[in-house]
Amino acid sequence: MSVKLLVIAGARPNFMKVAPLWAALSPDPQFLLKLVHTGQHYDYAMSGQFFEELGLPQPDYHLEAGSGSHAQQTAEILKRLEPVLIAEKPAAIVVVGDVNSTLAGALAAKKLGIDVIHVEAGLRSLDRSMPEEINRLATDAISDLFLVTEESGRYNLLREGAPPERIHMVGNLMIDSLHGHLKQALQSDARSRLIQGEAERQFGLITLHRPANVDHEGQLAQILMALDEISQEVPLYWPVHPRTRAKLQGLTYSKEIHLLEPLGYLDFLSLQAQSTVVLTDSGGIQEETTVLGVPCLTIRENTERPVTIECGTNRLAGTTRSSILKAWRELRDEPQKERKIPPFWDGKAGERCHAVLSQYFLTPVERG
Ligand code: UD1
Repeated sequence: MSVKLLVIAGARPNFMKVAPLWAALSPDPQFLLKLVHTGQHYDYAMSGQFFEELGLPQPDYHLEAGSGSHAQQTAEILKRLEPVLIAEKPAAIVVVGDVNSTLAGALAAKKLGIDVIHVEAGLRSLDRSMPEEINRLATDAISDLFLVTEESGRYNLLREGAPPERIHMVGNLMIDSLHGHLKQALQSDARSRLIQGEAERQFGLITLHRPANVDHEGQLAQILMALDEISQEVPLYWPVHPRTRAKLQGLTYSKEIHLLEPLGYLDFLSLQAQSTVVLTDSGGIQEETTVLGVPCLTIRENTERPVTIECGTNRLAGTTRSSILKAWRELRDEPQKERKIPPFWDGKAGERCHAVLSQYFLTPVERG
């Protein structure tokens, strides 16, 4: 009899992690997979387009939980997921990343005695004002199997008391998606279509959506002042997240900051790979730029992905006008440091996840 796994996907950064996992597990008759979309992200630009481009199947269940406060969104997913878990009785739930859907999935399952497998476990910013940090801590506290992307994840989990035999370095599923789609992205017309009249010029890319950066007008204005100055040297293109779009109303910014609608996976990957610099507060983009070799300025005070600084192209730029400009000048004026691709970020994370899960479910005697 096959092992039934319920895989949870809810928000944009989940989809490029779930797709390679799905591709690695679904051909194996040992596993029966069910895909649940929580509906945390629901716009075509934030969700449907990613399913199409990444080749994800239609979800078996769509919970349509939608937006709301953290409590409302998490509670809505919990309420809607519980009957699915009771009906399906999976051997385990698989949750990825650190979004509200991740925590809600883990909690709903564990309360029913269902095993929780956390992909991208153990990352820690040590900043508990970040909603994602709470999701990471709480998810890992009740997970049974921890699949980690970098050694800091293993270290953090061991420090928090996770059993060593349950922690497995599998690499980075998001980088599997990158390797699988980069050629196609670069062959596309994204650059000429989106960077009007700039085809021969350098450009930078902005993404910003963290509540700490965009929810308070004063903070967003600080960041905009720095972006304004940088855009005088290199034009900046900014696919604006719906959260940020609302907050930009009434604020002024330079003509060399060009706002775009949220981009699909291939368009964003194409621009990212061709940009001179990426300024971001995203977690995943710190990882993608590291592999692409594109300098990244992270507009945050901390990162849960330290390997992108140790090995990669990432620098913490802080969140004030002066700190961001200082980081930009250092990046511009200093020779680029030698970079390495972090271990196991090689496009084979899906295969490793498959191997770990096969072993886990074929040796039930080891499971508590
Ligand atoms: C969520 C994740 C964050 C991740 C980000 C990627 C949590 C706590 N946060 O943040 O870790 O980096 O996704 O985007 O889970 N909205 C739309 N259309 C959509 C989705 C959202 O218009 O399809 C708008 C709504 O006004 C919503 C707001 O964006 O209230 C924020 O969405 P939400 O899912 O609450 O958080 P994100 O900021 O996207």
